[in-house]
Amino acid sequence: MPWYGSHSYLNEFIRINNCRKIMEIGVYNGENAKRMVLTAIENSPPHKVEYYGFDFFSYYTVERVGRKLDETGCKYKLIEGNTLKTLPEATKILPKMDIIFIDGGKSSREAMNDWEYSEKLMHDKTSVFVHNVDFSGVSRAVDSISRQNYTVEIFYSPSEGTVALIKKKMIPQQKHQN
Ligand SMILES: C[S@@+](CC[C@H](N)C(=O)[O-])C[C@H]1O[C@@H](n2cnc3c(N)ncnc32)[C@H](O)[C@@H]1O
Repeated sequence: MPWYGSHSYLNEFIRINNCRKIMEIGVYNGENAKRMVLTAIENSPPHKVEYYGFDFFSYYTVERVGRKLDETGCKYKLIEGNTLKTLPEATKILPKMDIIFIDGGKSSREAMNDWEYSEKLMHDKTSVFVHNVDFSGVSRAVDSISRQNYTVEIFYSPSEGTVALIKKKMIPQQKHQN
């Protein structure tokens, strides 16, 4: 089962939807972060593009990843530590995102936590992509997502396995009866 990939679906989504606010849970070496930002600045001035990344940043440090993002001219914040701790705090102050990529811890506790806090940063048109749904912990988290409030589309990418795409369901306003 592939673990990494180039996630071309993310860049396609960013390009088509003119995304400017991008969040990634699980940054690793920052290459995917840079690719997403470079795609966003095809449509927007670099200083209008914001990237928020969460990771332990233990080997690929904040400084190393930061240097890659500096080259793009975007605004960014790299939030260091376990998302079980960092997300509850960060989501109190972060803006709503246009796209969120969940690709951090693969246990159900981590994946559920990452979804729970990503949900708080969704506006009506935000798309959340969850990587590695083939992992049992991630699959359990995706199964727990309310189908009443969200559409959950599962797709398979040959180079990198199963991915979930989550969007808010638009609930039509009820008509008042006279
Ligand atoms: C699969 S890699 C991310 C790959 C990256 N999204 C990409 O496309 O290249 C997973 C990353 O999640 C981070 N991670 C795993 N569990 C985490 C946790 N509980 N809190 C913060 N980061 C975590 C790891 O340090 C690792 O860098």
